[in-house]
Amino acid sequence: MMTRNSGKVIVFLMLAILLVGSVWLSAQMESEEGDENAELIEAGRMLAELSDTAGGQGCINCHGTFGVGDLELAPNYRGRTEEDIRNALESVEQMDFLEVSEDQVVALGAYLEWLGGFVPAKSELRSNSFSPTELTVPAGAEVQLIVDNRERRTTHFISSEDLGIEPTEIRARNFDDFLWTAPDEPGTFSVFCDDCDEGDAVLTIVVEVPEDDGESEE
Ligand code: HEC
Repeated sequence: MMTRNSGKVIVFLMLAILLVGSVWLSAQMESEEGDENAELIEAGRMLAELSDTAGGQGCINCHGTFGVGDLELAPNYRGRTEEDIRNALESVEQMDFLEVSEDQVVALGAYLEWLGGFVPAKSELRSNSFSPTELTVPAGAEVQLIVDNRERRTTHFISSEDLGIEPTEIRARNFDDFLWTAPDEPGTFSVFCDDCDEGDAVLTIVVEVPEDDGESEE
């Protein structure tokens, strides 16, 4: 009796070890895939942001910070794919001078697709205040808050308890982004410029439920 039972225990233990092992292995593989994709996205971001002299392609010089297309030189390209980039490189006259390798197209594609998952909300820092001072985002959205410091010399620090942003330095002529999931309920949230003048140094983020959604939920 004893031996039969201990045999069962051993089989059980072996199965348990196998199960735990395979769960661990697949979690490991998934996180490696995640890491690889994160690296690709980061590489794409560098290519888009850095000038050619710094090893990048300078896409943002025409397409705007994080590709929002606000420079009126080139359209918003957030959410575009590798294929769209290849097509643009072939057909857009203004992009003729670019020499983008196939590896770079892949990284840029991963980056643009990643950007497409977020609603951009952009404000600039000028003359010691935010401009605009209010941004509206849809409830429940994955938001990419973009703060572009347009001051010529002044470094600013921004922070937000509401959005979970620790005091962050943004140097003159530099920008940064902060990812935030807007709540499902409407409300207003504040981002502060800690060292700007008092008064206009608050950026208010208004979370609104889009009208169609409100109706279809009725
Ligand atoms: C010198 C300015 C300039 C630069 C630099 C530039 N682009 Fe463009 N790009 C344009 C213009 C202008 C268009 C729009 C052409 C049109 O619609 O006629 C465009 C269009 C595109 C499109 C198609 C967008 C769409 O859906 O309509 C993609 C994708 C794109 N560019 C990606 C890139 C990437 C990636 C880089 C960096 C490697 C880059 N561009 C650099 C000017 C530029």
